[in-house]
Amino acid sequence: MSSLKLAVIIGSVREGRFGSTVAAWFAEQAARHGGFEVDVIDLADADLPLALPAIPPAMEPNPPRPEGMVDLSARLAAADAFVIVTPDYNRSYPAALKAAIDWHFTQWDAKTIGFVGYSGASGGLLAIEHLRQVFNELNAHTVREYVSFPRYYLLFDEEGRLREPNEPAAAAQTMLDRLHWWASALAAARSASVAA
Ligand SMILES: Cc1cc2nc3c(=O)[nH]c(=O)nc-3n(C[C@H](O)[C@H](O)[C@H](O)COP(=O)(O)O)c2cc1C
Repeated sequence: MSSLKLAVIIGSVREGRFGSTVAAWFAEQAARHGGFEVDVIDLADADLPLALPAIPPAMEPNPPRPEGMVDLSARLAAADAFVIVTPDYNRSYPAALKAAIDWHFTQWDAKTIGFVGYSGASGGLLAIEHLRQVFNELNAHTVREYVSFPRYYLLFDEEGRLREPNEPAAAAQTMLDRLHWWASALAAARSASVAA
């Protein structure tokens, strides 16, 4: 398999968050898959103001951004595919993730996106469904396969290891296979449209 770049985004920036544990688990699965060069992006490292630029992204896709966002923007631009690790917050996804999405535009365009969700009973699925709508507006393709951890606190032990790892690991590989297919196809399509 060719080496495509996969950015795994930790969507929660909350103090004491569990998101980094889920992201570490998924990054291991992605490394095992072997089809991607994996970059784990922690939104807690970026400056993500809620006040957006004056001009909408469709008119000014790359506005001046805060110094503390430059690294994030470059890493999003470099990615061929994304996996977003998200909890459910009030039946949706965290505000920091929305800010990171809305500050960018071309960085998502014609790329593919997968999801790993976790939370209480809903397992991140409510956040994932909202994110599918958002990424549709950004001309990104979200894959149907996902990984979900409902009541994650029963599924992971105190060291952050899954008690029953096989089923989630298989779900992750299935999603990564599909993501790889789309990432390859869309990378070729993006190069062809640049060359034309
Ligand atoms: C503001 C907020 C809202 C939440 N809303 C939901 C919810 O709607 N459904 C759910 O199953 N869990 C909900 N939870 C529980 C979270 O999914 C759980 O606390 C999880 O650990 C959050 O991810 P994090 O630790 O990475 O921030 C909520 C938690 C917070 C902080």
